[in-house]
Amino acid sequence: MENERKKRVLSMYQCTGTFTLGNYLGAIRNHVRLQDDYECVYALADLHAITVRQDPAELRKNTLASYAYLLAMGIDLEKTILFIQSHVPEHSQLAWVLNCYTQFGELSRMTQFKDKSQQHADNINAGLFTYPCLMAADILLYQADFVPVGADQKQHVELARDVAERFNGLYSPTFTVPEPMIPKHGARVMSLQDPTKKMSKSDENMNGTILMSDDPDAIMRKFKRAKTDSDSVVRYAEGKEGINNLMEIYSCVTGKTMEEIEREFEGKGYGEFKPAVAEAVIDELRPVQAEFARLMNDKAYLEQCFAENAPKAQYLAWKTLQKVMKKIGYILLK
Ligand code: TYM
Repeated sequence: MENERKKRVLSMYQCTGTFTLGNYLGAIRNHVRLQDDYECVYALADLHAITVRQDPAELRKNTLASYAYLLAMGIDLEKTILFIQSHVPEHSQLAWVLNCYTQFGELSRMTQFKDKSQQHADNINAGLFTYPCLMAADILLYQADFVPVGADQKQHVELARDVAERFNGLYSPTFTVPEPMIPKHGARVMSLQDPTKKMSKSDENMNGTILMSDDPDAIMRKFKRAKTDSDSVVRYAEGKEGINNLMEIYSCVTGKTMEEIEREFEGKGYGEFKPAVAEAVIDELRPVQAEFARLMNDKAYLEQCFAENAPKAQYLAWKTLQKVMKKIGYILLK
């Protein structure tokens, strides 16, 4: 029905200054598509950033660049709220509350905590451990119906659901219980060097990761060097993880099905397939890179965008936080 409230989606991103092809195909491209049918709230998770050490000037630069990339990739401020997490203090406030409604055991089971504490063995701080509570706050503050993410974030969304249900059960319905929304294709783009590992910006071997900022030569080189198998047939099959990953990427970018791709490369080897994938990715990224460069030359515009978006987000977050505080029994200022 025309007048029915659109369902709300919420998603956020780390602000590393660039994005990977995995971020783009697994998340952001879908976030752009959702803008017509949903009320979308997206943000840069800069509070999350300090779970690992950050250089202040770099953090500022990377946050600005990440904001510009999201606009360049098609986030449309006429339709969507796009803000920076630290501009809305309700995130930190609700995160503290949710810390007290989340069990140590639940946080200990988070695979991302296990991975990150291995990567940063010299700085396993409490923030890294309780980070899923901040992420639950990110989601629950906006009463999100859906959380569109790649497969790696599913466990965190499930924790947010559990905490929401727990709080609703202890008091009365307060939070919308969010559903993860995981795309059929592109939900787990794998490293080009080790197709059993997800493509990630923190990978030591950057040959496995395509960055949105990579130039055409780098993209071509990385795809040409991609690990495949000793077979030479372009076919989607078990045991051919490297080729499956390249086929997934090619399918996401061109819209072709696996069967169509198999037919297109019948009788041709990996030597023809790999550059074709690279070309398709180069074509997909070219307009994004051009728009990003244009936006980075207009910092005043970017600053105006996030300044205008913060109060819109804060209004929604504040309403939820007030409800939460009242239910718990805090005295609210009149
Ligand atoms: P982040 O910044 O690691 O990733 C942003 C989005 O990209 C998806 N993604 C991938 N998808 C497919 N293949 C890959 N190789 C790949 N790598 C990343 C992620 O699933 C994600 O959707 N904790 C979150 C940020 C966050 C958040 C939130 C997300 C903070 N608060 C609230 C949703 C809701 C993170 O680190 O995403």
